[in-house]
Amino acid sequence: MRVIGMISGTSFDAIEAVAADLELDGETLVADLRAHVSAEYPAEVRAAIAASLPPAQTTIEDVCKLDTAIGQRFAEVASEVAGATFAGEVDVICSHGQTVYHWVEGAHALGTLQLGQPAFIAERTGATVVGDVRARDIAAGGHGAPLASLLDVLLLGREPDRVRGSLNLGGISNVTVVGPGREPLAYDIGPANALTDAVVAAETGGRESWDEGGARAARGTVDEELLAAFLDEPYYELPPPKSTGKELFHLAYVREKVNGHAISTDDLLATLTALSAETVASDLQKLGVADVVAAGGGTRNPTLMAELARRLPGLPIETFDVFGIPEAGKEAFVFAIIGFLTVHRLPAAVPSCTGARHASILGAVLPGTAPLRVQEGAQAPTGLTVRTPLRS
Ligand SMILES: Nc1ncnc2c1ncn2[C@@H]1O[C@H](COP(=O)(O)OP(=O)(O)OP(=O)(O)O)[C@@H](O)[C@H]1O
Ligand SMILES: [Mg+2]
Repeated sequence: MRVIGMISGTSFDAIEAVAADLELDGETLVADLRAHVSAEYPAEVRAAIAASLPPAQTTIEDVCKLDTAIGQRFAEVASEVAGATFAGEVDVICSHGQTVYHWVEGAHALGTLQLGQPAFIAERTGATVVGDVRARDIAAGGHGAPLASLLDVLLLGREPDRVRGSLNLGGISNVTVVGPGREPLAYDIGPANALTDAVVAAETGGRESWDEGGARAARGTVDEELLAAFLDEPYYELPPPKSTGKELFHLAYVREKVNGHAISTDDLLATLTALSAETVASDLQKLGVADVVAAGGGTRNPTLMAELARRLPGLPIETFDVFGIPEAGKEAFVFAIIGFLTVHRLPAAVPSCTGARHASILGAVLPGTAPLRVQEGAQAPTGLTVRTPLRS
């Protein structure tokens, strides 16, 4: 089945799309990866997303306009990828869209909102479109996140002979852990790039979106007292499964912690980079992982990766490229798999990871122009083979 998965993550740095041919061979999902594209948002759409995110206030009118603008841009990207990869003949497109609000109270997620109206994708491509992928797991009592735990468990194994971790360093850091004699576990750790991005964007008046190569953090010095203040955050103490987002970790949060304390931007970035490394390293240690495979834009920040390695001596950290999956396309690939499973009426949520009462079939389906040919008697996969890899 020709499938495209799409997402723009919490950093809204790019729309990631992965095209793959997927088929089930017994309990193994076999993937031929065909393409990975990172496509930009038009500057005005990016600015409108930034202006709508918490703690900013927005209006229902602006939410509606953003839903359309994001949906149309996803539709353009979907159509380009479908054309270039499948000569326009794509069966299923699964779009996560753009998270604009993830409603968490204490240990529970009560709602989540992704924009990017999938009808535009269906109209433009004629494919069967799967959207609204997080809501069903939340309705089943889960966090609707981290959904990437599905791919992590398929690749690392549900019960490997050692404790293995999969780490994502996006706007937020999250981890999936699998190991002998335990159910897979996954949760959001804390801010990976969300806070450093917010500081860089504010300091440069929006001209820059992140600390390229971690250069500024590398020049700065960690303020230990301020780092301790940042580490004093009740979210880190909550037991997993748990999820968080930019509703908590935003610029105003940084300003509140800094509380008028004089600090240079480079030192602040060094401190926030240390915060990301410290929260991740401390959790990986507590989880007792023997090896880690990582994805997300944070893997492209050498300062963050060096801070992490320094705190975790002897722990091998590789990227998803070792599986033939381009690190930046990992999450889009997850949504391709979710779309494939959904149209086969197979659950894609891992309840021990999301905290849901049961494994749900995810998403809302928009029918395509042609009947969809699915595999008869398909069973939920227990493993994944990347038969045709893609390199970053
Ligand atoms: N060359 C780079 N140098 C430093 N940081 C980078 C670089 N490239 C990417 N990043 C960081 O990675 C971030 C984007 O990562 P990614 O796309 O994985 O996150 P995301 O879109 O927020 O996804 P998620 O929803 O998983 O959090 C950027 O906002 C930036 O902070
Ligand atoms: Mg991204």
